[in-house]
Amino acid sequence: MSSAYQECIDPKCRLRYDIRDFRLTCSKGHPLDVKYFTRPNTELEVFSVRRNHGSNIYNESGVWRFRDFINFCSIDTESYEECARYLVSLDGAEGRLSKPFKMSKVAEYVGIHKDNLFLQPEGYNPSGSFKDNGMATALTHAKLLNVKKIVCASTGNTSASAAMYASNEGIGCEVYVPRGEIAIGKLGQALQFGAQVIEVDGNFDDALAMMLNEASRSNAYVVNSVNPFRLEGQKAIVYRVLEYLDWETPDWLVYPGGALGNTSSAGKCLMELYEWGFIKKVPRLAVINAEGADTLYKLYNGIYNGIRLRWNNGSVDISLIDEYYRYMDKNNIKPRTDATAIQIGKPANLLKGLRALEFTDGVVETVSDKEMYDGMAIVGLNGFDCELASGSVPAGIKKLREQEIIKKDDVVVGILTGRQKDPNIVINYHLNPANRFAVTPKRYSKVTVK
Ligand code: F0G
Repeated sequence: MSSAYQECIDPKCRLRYDIRDFRLTCSKGHPLDVKYFTRPNTELEVFSVRRNHGSNIYNESGVWRFRDFINFCSIDTESYEECARYLVSLDGAEGRLSKPFKMSKVAEYVGIHKDNLFLQPEGYNPSGSFKDNGMATALTHAKLLNVKKIVCASTGNTSASAAMYASNEGIGCEVYVPRGEIAIGKLGQALQFGAQVIEVDGNFDDALAMMLNEASRSNAYVVNSVNPFRLEGQKAIVYRVLEYLDWETPDWLVYPGGALGNTSSAGKCLMELYEWGFIKKVPRLAVINAEGADTLYKLYNGIYNGIRLRWNNGSVDISLIDEYYRYMDKNNIKPRTDATAIQIGKPANLLKGLRALEFTDGVVETVSDKEMYDGMAIVGLNGFDCELASGSVPAGIKKLREQEIIKKDDVVVGILTGRQKDPNIVINYHLNPANRFAVTPKRYSKVTVK
């Protein structure tokens, strides 16, 4: 027996229909309501019990839920009062919605069984990218130091996240962005959250260098991923993956590679969990560069001069990095990709990234912009949102599968780092019928209503 029905909202009519009837109006053309035969016999407490956070917003947060693993404030993690005094959170919103999801269409596309592929949309964070995981912890540290202003350079997502937390905490925020090379939606967020935007003529590498220079002169608090406290929060991305898999490690964790903050953070997270005995097996990291911003790929795989750059237990061949950067500068080689989020030529966390790759026996691959577009599109056709840079993840998994580096039965978790903040990217993709997954809009020149 159905507990509900449909009813016309007109008191003079009140026509009723079964819940299985599909109609937009009653037979006389009035709008319909869904109605219930009886009042729900539920105690209101049930709703909060189901959420199981004990009224503690820090339990709701997908970062602070794991506060025991990121307890740099040395607090009693069970004490709500101590949490509230120290921890910065957007009332539990960071990391709350992001967890691994199965995406059968993406799985088919990349050539992995649908039960073995998971993608974690970090775009479902309050500011729309994985940055909120790390910004919650960076701001917690800033608060510990009683900082009044934070600064960052950004391709857009860091600045959006920094500005959001800073405004909520009532502290100042300055963001350096490469002029004309960040998604319009990201620039809009920084402005909306009240940050002072500083547009730099140049690319992200220039903006970062300029910001670091200014910050060292004014002793400002930097929230880029060179800040180790930010990387602490980004470990939560991995905790949520592992928690979902009952703390069984997948075979692969796949990230886009930009400044390599995520790579570094994931590596540290896995090193700790392994050392502390929480995991018995270490997943392999796969880092995916855009073809046009492939410094890590070139250096790691020895494409530049035949020498493979390695962490080498801490003895990194720094001269090789310096030489490559000099070669880039001399030949005016600039990173170029439509995926502006990862349009980075000099990854600030290269050393920690190499450490992570060594610990996890990682691999580095590149994908073209076209492959990223298709990757982004197939995620969309699966009902999930991601930006172009995150499209590198399905694209990279596909490529590594084709080379049999990722094996057929491997369990793979990819991190979709941000949501779409430039609708024109999607619209232009779908307007072009030559694109593999394009669903081109139809057009009617004349609307006739009978
Ligand atoms: N994906 C997205 C959506 C990003 O915004 C970024 C970096 C990355 C991937 C790369 O991550 O740097 O940890 O390797 N965005 C930075 C920013 C640079 O300023 O928002 P990474």
